[in-house]
Amino acid sequence: MNRLSILVASVLGSLFVGCTHKPQELSIVPIPNHIEQARGSLLLDSTVRLQIHCPEQDHDILSNYIAATPLGDVIGETSTPDEKAKHLTLKLVDELAEVESSEGYHLTVDRKGITITATTSNGLFYGLQTLLQLYADSKHIPHTTIIDEPRFAYRGMMIDVSRHFFDVDFIKKQIDAMAYFKINHLHLHLTDAAGWRIEIKRYPRLTGKAAWRGQATWKEWWNGDRQYVEEGSEGAYGGYYTQDEIRELVAYAQERFITIIPEIEMPSHSEEVLAVYPELSCSHIPYKESDFCVGNEQTFEFLEGVLTEVMELFPSEYIHIGGDEASKQSWKTCARCQARMQSEGLADVDELQSYLIHRIETFLNAHGRQLLGWDEILDGGLAPRATVMSWRGTEGGLRAITAGHRAIMTPGEYCYLDAYQDAPHTQPEAIGGYLPLNKVYGYDPLPDTLATAQRELLYGVQGNLFAEYIPTEQHMEYMMYPRLLAIAEVGWSRPENKDYDHFRNRTMKILSDLQQADYNTFDLSHEVGNRPGADRPLEHLAVGKKVEYVDGSAYFGGYTAGGDSALVDGVRGGWTYGDRRWQGFLGRKGVDVVIDLERTTYLHSINADFMQICGPGVFMPAEIIISTSTDGNDYTELYRTENEVIRDDSVSFRTFGWEGETQARYIRYQAVRSHHGGFLFLDEVVVR
Ligand code: ACM
Repeated sequence: MNRLSILVASVLGSLFVGCTHKPQELSIVPIPNHIEQARGSLLLDSTVRLQIHCPEQDHDILSNYIAATPLGDVIGETSTPDEKAKHLTLKLVDELAEVESSEGYHLTVDRKGITITATTSNGLFYGLQTLLQLYADSKHIPHTTIIDEPRFAYRGMMIDVSRHFFDVDFIKKQIDAMAYFKINHLHLHLTDAAGWRIEIKRYPRLTGKAAWRGQATWKEWWNGDRQYVEEGSEGAYGGYYTQDEIRELVAYAQERFITIIPEIEMPSHSEEVLAVYPELSCSHIPYKESDFCVGNEQTFEFLEGVLTEVMELFPSEYIHIGGDEASKQSWKTCARCQARMQSEGLADVDELQSYLIHRIETFLNAHGRQLLGWDEILDGGLAPRATVMSWRGTEGGLRAITAGHRAIMTPGEYCYLDAYQDAPHTQPEAIGGYLPLNKVYGYDPLPDTLATAQRELLYGVQGNLFAEYIPTEQHMEYMMYPRLLAIAEVGWSRPENKDYDHFRNRTMKILSDLQQADYNTFDLSHEVGNRPGADRPLEHLAVGKKVEYVDGSAYFGGYTAGGDSALVDGVRGGWTYGDRRWQGFLGRKGVDVVIDLERTTYLHSINADFMQICGPGVFMPAEIIISTSTDGNDYTELYRTENEVIRDDSVSFRTFGWEGETQARYIRYQAVRSHHGGFLFLDEVVVR
């Protein structure tokens, strides 16, 4: 299923220590730590015999795995080494030079054969993935020595199966690809408002109703009734994994050295549970709250009952309990929650959430498991052994590490693969944002500020695919590939071996292999790239000039784009206001700024670009007024236009401005908010 042509040339020349000839292009993702090539190659054909030296259980896993790969069609296993034959040997050893991680391996290819050595079967499996990638490129495997190990122990991918349901075969197909790129954790977001996705024998209403809705897409459901329907009713959309299917998935993943981490959301994102078991909410009224009632002992009975079955199904050390985005509103007036807060001496609702997380941690620990949660589990006090998955930036993860906890980094800015991966107008609808391949690739989870002793606590990195806007399998793959390859290389490869152009070349080759293997990938060869002007400063007459914000007009503290100079700094915004280069205005007055050009100047055009993305409440202006003055007191109106602002699903950009001939020193640019309210976002007032 792959091939890849790593252009291992100049930039990465250092990888070819001892190279005696021009190295062949190798195509491996993630890039190994050390590659040494010698002259010649070995033809991997049916004359090569397979030998596996490791304990029986792993022997069978590896042997069955190989039989199912393209190599399985070519080579057969032998138990009696033949002196004259060439061998592909997988061998466990006690120690491996220059490798510290138990997942590391050596791969040696010479004229006698191919040998993969490692201290664990995981390492053998990863050496095998490297070989499979070389084999996909050419059956003539170059004479090579590779010494390789991961930078981080945890390399993960999260798939949201709640907002849209993805069946077992689809998940297996993604597990195949994850293994190929040495990803070792699959985090399944199994429960959320849009549908419960795992059979729990004790609580049949979870799959009898909470797993089904009347609308096929999350968007229709969310904009519609947000209700659930009975399993089997006409038009019911949804689904769940039976316990047998979960066992099948877990085993399939284990055979590919991937741990599946189940996520069961609490205390919030639980509308679907509270619709069918309303007694677990504060009001006891279905469709009213998203948070469990923490004052009610039945809540704990339920959660522990669910987790008991979950632990029986998933051998993963980690159980993810969600913990994100709780509203906590109903707790403030709920008699049970208030009584709990009083009896436990809890100061506020954050501490009430923390009480629940602590109790669940104690329960999981008593069963030999560890609690993993989104970074909100820090609020109100982190449970003693919890691991934090940092998604609202990296601050939460770093705070956890400072307090001696493990953290997994998955900051939205770099790791949320549900964002647009190219210019929004060229892409299927996404949740928003703009996260191209090179940005994912550029992420380094390990900040320089982290002390050496704390580095071990940075457990790794994960890509997340929340599925609100991903209704089909094809679309899910499209969002995942190639960005999963970037996550894989961020998690595995050493920073000094990383180079984006080189990675992109390798990825281009691998993508064509993925496509041949029926993965629906983004077409990287036709990537449009960032918004024109966003990557290079603009020259214009107002650059560096003073901007005055007229009374009542002020930019929002979270979207300053750098402050008072942002609208004349020559820097364009990209495809998302999330890049912090768009200045946001939330106040009634909208935008009202005066730019002082310092002297009377000939003017030919005055323009500003606005963006609209209605989901998060960003709208085009309803009116634009541009006026100029020579003395800063008397202004002449140059331009006024009204604009009908229409809600839509797209992300759009539009220039509003004047063209003509005049002379002036002061320019006043006003943009009026529409009746939709929300934000106005502009990136620059361009004066020519
Ligand atoms: C999350 O994105 N709410 C974890």
